[in-house]
Amino acid sequence: MISLQLHITDLLTKALEACAYDEPAFVKASDRPDLSDYQSTVALSLGKKLKTNPVEVANKLKEVLSTSTTNFDIFVAGPGFLNFKCTDACLTTHLSKGIAPIKAETPQNVIVDYGGPNVAKPMHVGHLRSSIIGEALKRLCRYKGHAVLGDIHLGDWGTQMGMLIIALQEKNPDLPYFDRDFKGPYPEASPVTLDRLQEIYPQISSRCKEDEALAEKARTATYELQNGRPGYRALWQHFVHVSIEDMKKNFAHLNVSFEQWFGESRYQDAIPSMIVAYEKKNLVRKSDGALVIDVASPSDKKEMPPLILKKKDGGFLYATTDLATIEERVHAFDAERIIYVVDGRQRLHFEQVFRAAQKVGHKTTFDFIGFGTMNGPDNKPFKTRSGGAMRLEELIQMLSEEAAARIKEARGDLETEEDKARAQAIGVAALKFADLQHNPSQNYQFDLKKFMNFEGKTGPYLLYALVRIFVFFYKTSKKIGDLKHDACTLSEAERALMLKILQTEEVIDRAYQSLSPHFLCDFAFDIAQMFSRLYSAHPILSEKDDTKRHLRLWLCKKTQEMLLLLLDLLGISHVNKM
Ligand code: ARG
Repeated sequence: MISLQLHITDLLTKALEACAYDEPAFVKASDRPDLSDYQSTVALSLGKKLKTNPVEVANKLKEVLSTSTTNFDIFVAGPGFLNFKCTDACLTTHLSKGIAPIKAETPQNVIVDYGGPNVAKPMHVGHLRSSIIGEALKRLCRYKGHAVLGDIHLGDWGTQMGMLIIALQEKNPDLPYFDRDFKGPYPEASPVTLDRLQEIYPQISSRCKEDEALAEKARTATYELQNGRPGYRALWQHFVHVSIEDMKKNFAHLNVSFEQWFGESRYQDAIPSMIVAYEKKNLVRKSDGALVIDVASPSDKKEMPPLILKKKDGGFLYATTDLATIEERVHAFDAERIIYVVDGRQRLHFEQVFRAAQKVGHKTTFDFIGFGTMNGPDNKPFKTRSGGAMRLEELIQMLSEEAAARIKEARGDLETEEDKARAQAIGVAALKFADLQHNPSQNYQFDLKKFMNFEGKTGPYLLYALVRIFVFFYKTSKKIGDLKHDACTLSEAERALMLKILQTEEVIDRAYQSLSPHFLCDFAFDIAQMFSRLYSAHPILSEKDDTKRHLRLWLCKKTQEMLLLLLDLLGISHVNKM
């Protein structure tokens, strides 16, 4: 549908050229929507630069513009503002054209690293934020024409694995996985369920904190696992499988999916040769028996410690794995840009990794989207009543129940499976929208009632606006044909909604440029609100005048298209009944 702002910018650029003015055309939505729709202050800056009266400059531009377009009433106001008021025909013709993304650049290969849950540990609200924001960013980049892969980067390789192995051995010492002489094959079924693993993990983890001998045993088991002890590897495979199965279920509920289910373990074999290569390039230094890469720069305001590539005991760290991951992403997938969506508290780690990667010579663009926490009423990271980290499953359950209660309240019953699925979709929409409407770096407070408010700036409010439109189309069997543009005289409410929708392309562009999906949320809410205003200002299906009814239904269709697009970019599913 070609952004109106770009269209005017284009016209103004040509007018500036025709008048031999050397100044970029700057156009924005008007601060005074009662007077005009778009505005430019270019005459003011030219007046200053050329030491002439800006009103004269503006008038000259206006004259040239008036000969090149009939789409706007153009007038000069105040000290030299150039104002554009769109004609009704301009709005309807522009809106008739389909939406096209503003493509600012050449398509790139992009990897979004998000989700990042850990094997055998429950997925909690931190993973929720990463998944929700990452999914939206992936969709945004794709919309802009990039080739994008989402990678979950599973935490499947840490000392938690060794801890689980020794804990299981304590309880079931007779399992073949612990018998060094066992020749296999190992049983196909997992000896533990995920629930059991999640029960064992916090216990053994806190015991290891207090008992150094036990911690040492866990480290040894981790070491043996990492060095390929067959029984441990087989057991570890089970841990990974049962965890992934559960994660897939959780992610499906959230409408989140990954192209790459790679984990930290994938990169381990490549680490030794990577280190040799870095040594050859003289990028590595010995420090107290460890191998490090210096990443500090003289302009640093804060201390920037070196990145530890290899510990004194020969072990590799989180950062080593992240560097090896970059190597593979660059070489095997030609990644030109990698976007990491990770807890903001890992900022320093990623700063070190990015600097090291640049030092190595990678030309990749790196972005770190460090998100804040979702807090409870006490403004501390959201916990369960008993004080543990809130599990994703429980959270989704809570929201679905709240949505079900709201539907019951309105309709008196909630019977079918379809109703229950709908309640879950509404609950998830509430959760995702509440999360995405904040700038990712911001913390925000969990507030069930607020998230679910059908009248506030929420997911359910947006879904409800869409349901209203679905109902119109359900009730009218007629196809909504094209508009006769010159036959339409627009009301204030119709104009306002159209003008808003015509900003879609630049809003999506802003969200993409800043990697901040919250711009999409604000915008979708504005559209839904303006639609609501139209809905209360005018009859739609019951409008007697054929032209007007047709225009309004047509506008409903456009609103529906835009809201569906925005929700899709946000990764929020809609419902057709509420
Ligand atoms: N598993 C990590 C965590 O739970 C997140 C992984 C983020 N991605 C990465 N490439 N390090 O904190």
